Amino acid sequence: MSHFLPVKLEHASRLINHGPTVLVTSAHGACRNVMAAAWSMPVEFTPPRIAVVIDKRTYTRELAAASGTFGICVPGAAMMDLTYAVGSSSGRDLDKFEAFGIEAVAGPVLGLPLIEKNCAAWLECRLIDEKHTEDAYDTCFAEVVAAAADPRVFSAGHWTLDDSNQPLHTIHHLGAGNFVRASAMEQARPLDAL
Ligand SMILES: Cc1cc2nc3c(=O)[nH]c(=O)nc-3n(C[C@H](O)[C@H](O)[C@H](O)COP(=O)(O)O)c2cc1C
Repeated sequence: MSHFLPVKLEHASRLINHGPTVLVTSAHGACRNVMAAAWSMPVEFTPPRIAVVIDKRTYTRELAAASGTFGICVPGAAMMDLTYAVGSSSGRDLDKFEAFGIEAVAGPVLGLPLIEKNCAAWLECRLIDEKHTEDAYDTCFAEVVAAAADPRVFSAGHWTLDDSNQPLHTIHHLGAGNFVRASAMEQARPLDAL
């Protein structure tokens, strides 16, 4: 049974607001796939919309274009090696879920393969038809239609990153397989104008 809890759609942007490296999942017919993406961001609160760069040469792009959907999963630090592995191999050559022993659950709205084990959150997304930005910039816009998170790190619309949940701290790609973990949360203090 899933240990994830639904995230209100108006809070979905917060799941990727801080720029974590994500996993983009996709499926069409009997085919499914997962790749890593460092370049994603929210672009609208309501309706919740996001953008992610998905290179047109990837198998992910082919499946996402064919189905009009994709999933975003937010891997925790425990998934760093797998994240790098699925970002360094193509689903055209292997079923990465099988090859790397990644368990998938079916998304509630679009039925996309989503990853919960060692992930902090996921979003199910419906592609928005923006042919120009897809062709020119490999940037795919999508509307989030469902979202959920592991309540150990995200609940009631807020992240909690502390020593108790380190394996689920989000990861951020520096390049060449080097990542930093999100940690040491701090609250900004209001400043009085001079
Ligand atoms: C950490 C990391 C981040 C990446 N970020 C992106 C990205 O933002 N956009 C992209 O198109 N490819 C990105 N890639 C490359 C894809 O994950 C890679 O091309 C992958 O093999 C595509 O898989 P597929 O052909 O199975 O879809 C990244 C790779 C790694 C390792």
